[in-house]
Amino acid sequence: MKVLLYAAKTYDKKSFDALKEAFPEVEIDYIDHELEPRTASLAQGYDAVCAFVSADVSAKTLEIFRDLGVKAVLMRCAGYNNVDVEKAKELGIVVKRVPGYSPEAVAELAMALALAVNRRLYKAYNKVRENDYTLKGLRGVNFYQKTAGIVGTGKIGAAMARICRGFGMRVIAYDVYENPALKDFVEYVTLDELLSQSDLISLHCPLMDSTYHMINIESIKKMKDGVILVNTSRGALVDTQELIEGIRMDKFLGVGLDVYEEETGNVYEDRSDEIMMHSVTARLLAFPNVMITSHQGFYTKEALEAIAETTLQNAMDARDGKSTPNDVA
Ligand code: NAI
Repeated sequence: MKVLLYAAKTYDKKSFDALKEAFPEVEIDYIDHELEPRTASLAQGYDAVCAFVSADVSAKTLEIFRDLGVKAVLMRCAGYNNVDVEKAKELGIVVKRVPGYSPEAVAELAMALALAVNRRLYKAYNKVRENDYTLKGLRGVNFYQKTAGIVGTGKIGAAMARICRGFGMRVIAYDVYENPALKDFVEYVTLDELLSQSDLISLHCPLMDSTYHMINIESIKKMKDGVILVNTSRGALVDTQELIEGIRMDKFLGVGLDVYEEETGNVYEDRSDEIMMHSVTARLLAFPNVMITSHQGFYTKEALEAIAETTLQNAMDARDGKSTPNDVA
């Protein structure tokens, strides 16, 4: 089974190479290039490709794979909003993903962002480094006895709910399905009730037509003043322009984003020498109560190991024509 792994980083090579002996029948070549229609033809001679969150697995890319005889797309991530699933099905290209490699990795980052924006840790760190020991601009709130609202209580949302309970918070949630594992301590409410009651709102549902821009100026207006919003799921759950409007209305104590709409060109790139001409990210970063990280929720040792292992197993299953719960198409 020959696999071409796109957008390969050193940590990808390390975690996949560590499992060479366990999966001797999977042969992986790594390339730096991102997967997009322009680079799809590099997969000539491969049985499968392996891609990540910023890949463009659109109809155009998939048609090139069909012409080349590439039979499977192995997503080394949970989300697959960047894959044209219907087209893949139509072309008979198998798409597999890694649904639950380490929910705690992402949930712990969500809480880290919530704490960092609440207590302005990014400011505090810089102030002390500058010999400024004043507390101006650093006042936060206790999380203890406040209400956490979890949107989407699948694997990551459930892990976040447990963390919030550990902080002594009341935990409410909105999901289209209730998670029975949480029934002892989570109260399910409507989305409007969650928006109006929560002191901390954390997004953990997938990006779909029904969730696109679910956080917009109307939903922001329903939130409590002084709310903290965290998004570690997918950028387009939040309408960035309207989030900026909400921040200017002074709605938020803090906003922590591991994902945001404009991230695709940025994720895992060093653009520190560039002048960003039309960047809304730059505008967001200018606010003192916003912290952005670059899609690093998955980036723990345990998660990387689990991603590599499941992706290699997905490669074997694709080769053997075996369908599993990891199938997207
Ligand atoms: P999951 O599939 O276990 O859970 C998703 C939950 O969202 C399910 O309970 C589902 O019923 C719910 N849901 C679906 N539609 C909804 C709606 N309209 N409103 C409210 N809830 C809805 O997924 P998991 O593993 O918890 O991942 C969640 C998301 O986190 C992924 O879709 C992915 O986009 C993102 N993610 C981000 C990472 C990062 O590095 N920042 C890493 C891994 C995942």
